[in-house]
Amino acid sequence: MAMGLPRMNHPISDDQLTMVEEAIGRALDTDDHTELNVLGYGEVSVAVGWPSPSPVWVCKRMPPFPDRAAFDRYAALVSDYIATLTRSGVAIVETEIRPLPGPDDTWIGYLVQPVLNPATLGPDVLRAAEPGAGHPLIDSIVDSVMACTDGRTGIDAQITNWAWIEGRAVNLDVNTPFVYDESGRPLLDIDIFIGALPWAVRATQRRAGPKIIARWAKPRWTLTDLAMNLYKDHLEDWIPAVVAAANERLDEPIDESELKALYDKEAKLWVKLHRLKQIDRWWQRKARRRRYEFLVPATTNYA
Ligand SMILES: Nc1ncnc2c1ncn2[C@@H]1O[C@H](COP(=O)(O)OP(=O)(O)O)[C@@H](O)[C@H]1O
Ligand SMILES: [Mg+2]
Repeated sequence: MAMGLPRMNHPISDDQLTMVEEAIGRALDTDDHTELNVLGYGEVSVAVGWPSPSPVWVCKRMPPFPDRAAFDRYAALVSDYIATLTRSGVAIVETEIRPLPGPDDTWIGYLVQPVLNPATLGPDVLRAAEPGAGHPLIDSIVDSVMACTDGRTGIDAQITNWAWIEGRAVNLDVNTPFVYDESGRPLLDIDIFIGALPWAVRATQRRAGPKIIARWAKPRWTLTDLAMNLYKDHLEDWIPAVVAAANERLDEPIDESELKALYDKEAKLWVKLHRLKQIDRWWQRKARRRRYEFLVPATTNYA
């Protein structure tokens, strides 16, 4: 890894990680997240800063794995993914993949990273700059996408997944590795992540999932996704700069005038999912009398 990337001074101990798991467990059971120092609600995981008062680590809890072998497969996929991205020249935040025993035969997976300075996070960096002039962060992100996206590997390049550290874009989201076999099928066991979705949409997502993920095998989609999601983070003033940087490198250019409609369609889906998750959580608890395993934020950025 390049010099200058933030590193963990020491790995989190199993005792500390167990305390994280217990704190998240309390939040899951009470819907009260105030005990947690939530640094970000993402699409599939929640980034929890630990220790809460002044965090050293970020702990991202993955959905429970049915057995140790399933966790081991996921851990191997993430570490191969990080190695592949690094080889192609993409900088990745130091990431440790840690197992914790869960109830019955299940295992809980955590991805642990050093806490990054909030001022270095992509959205904050852009917010502090002038959209008209463009930003080297954008060039570095687009270069990273072009460097690693080759049909067998992809990357989630949304602005929320990058930090700007020592003059380069550094990716912090390797939770769901975009890796494909020779026929373009994702290697990630999406069933594990589909458990996080509301019951009502699981069957359709299980069917549609591989095709949805396959879109990131091509840089044009990845960069379209980066550009359109700037609406979500209220950074739409940056869309022209992102589209310009992307179109310099793409064979088939992105049409800026299509982005708003594309985003609105996507956002509608996420808002619906968010509402269904709240209903699913209620159902799991009341009728099934079991824990809903995913922290659902009170509101969604897509609304
Ligand atoms: N190492 C980190 N340091 C500081 N903030 C982080 C770190 N990792 C993640 N975050 C914050 O948490 C958010 C969600 O994390 P991310 O890994 O992108 O999860 P998801 O896969 O669910 O999108 C990020 O967009 C960022 O704002
Ligand atoms: Mg993310």
